[in-house]
Amino acid sequence: MRKILLSLGILFACEGMEQIEILPLDIIPYQAFEQNDPEALKVLQKALHEKGIVGIKGIPGYKEKVLKYIETAREFSASPEEVKEAYAPKAGEMFLGYEKAKEKFKRPDGRWVIDDLKVSYYGLVPESPFNKWPREMDLRGPFQDLGMMMSEMGEAVMKKIGLLGSMTGISLDGVPRIGRMLYYRKSIDSTDLDNPYWCGAHFDHGLITALLPAFYFMNGKAVPEPLEAGLFVSTTAKGIFQKVKADDPDVMLFQVGEFGQLVTNDAIRATEHRVHKAKGSVERLTMALFIIPHMDTVIYSSSELTEDARYGGKPGEPCTYRRWHEESFKRYIVKEEEKVH
Ligand SMILES: [Fe+2]
Repeated sequence: MRKILLSLGILFACEGMEQIEILPLDIIPYQAFEQNDPEALKVLQKALHEKGIVGIKGIPGYKEKVLKYIETAREFSASPEEVKEAYAPKAGEMFLGYEKAKEKFKRPDGRWVIDDLKVSYYGLVPESPFNKWPREMDLRGPFQDLGMMMSEMGEAVMKKIGLLGSMTGISLDGVPRIGRMLYYRKSIDSTDLDNPYWCGAHFDHGLITALLPAFYFMNGKAVPEPLEAGLFVSTTAKGIFQKVKADDPDVMLFQVGEFGQLVTNDAIRATEHRVHKAKGSVERLTMALFIIPHMDTVIYSSSELTEDARYGGKPGEPCTYRRWHEESFKRYIVKEEEKVH
């Protein structure tokens, strides 16, 4: 039996013996955000500092774009493997296009595991000649339509919290965003039975990530998000992961990336997050859009994140985004010899 209990302001959901703590997600109405309502901006800043995640609800035209995108993403995901593989990058090409099981994550016991059920499709936003798109269906249109809206909103969020401009030296001009379609396959297809995650715990390493609430399907039919599944974030040093209950398709989510934390000297904080698998034959679809600065951007951060070896210097010393990006990439990408075939 499932029940939700309200205890000291924290929500707990119980399923069987398992207790799941639910993160109280802050959701700001679009109108209040757009009109610079002081209360809404206070909630925005506080949520990004304390939780590293926030939602904005009611962006005009958003829900329609989301539903169209999900429909096409489902169609592509249901295509035969050889069709999808035809859009994977060839040797020497950029990462754009189809990708399967390429990331690894460290388990709490120190073991590295590969997310064998995670499938992605990468595309630059706005549209770029480097992008690859399937010929069998129009994935490009819905991906770009939604991606552009996520990009504009992400930029608006950054402006409101003072992350862009002369104070930070961060400019997004001429830098494409990285859009990522995410499709998580059924748990019953897993070869790694002791990996409970669709995506292992990690921090996004760019400035900010815009996200859709996820959509779930079982045997071709839409189903609500199973209680045990979905995005979980850890907002405390204790490492307790709380579930982000975001099942409203009219909400766009924003997550802080590590470089966003570095640039703002901890005024906003990147949150460690992971995606828990659903039991049985449930599939999950969503989209993330990563907003990053120019590779040559130099910062002189005093953030606590400068202690991470990827920073390569002491607080106050310089670090380029290129360095931060490359060092982060090395940590999470599966080498050819580690791949699951
Ligand atoms: Fe992430």
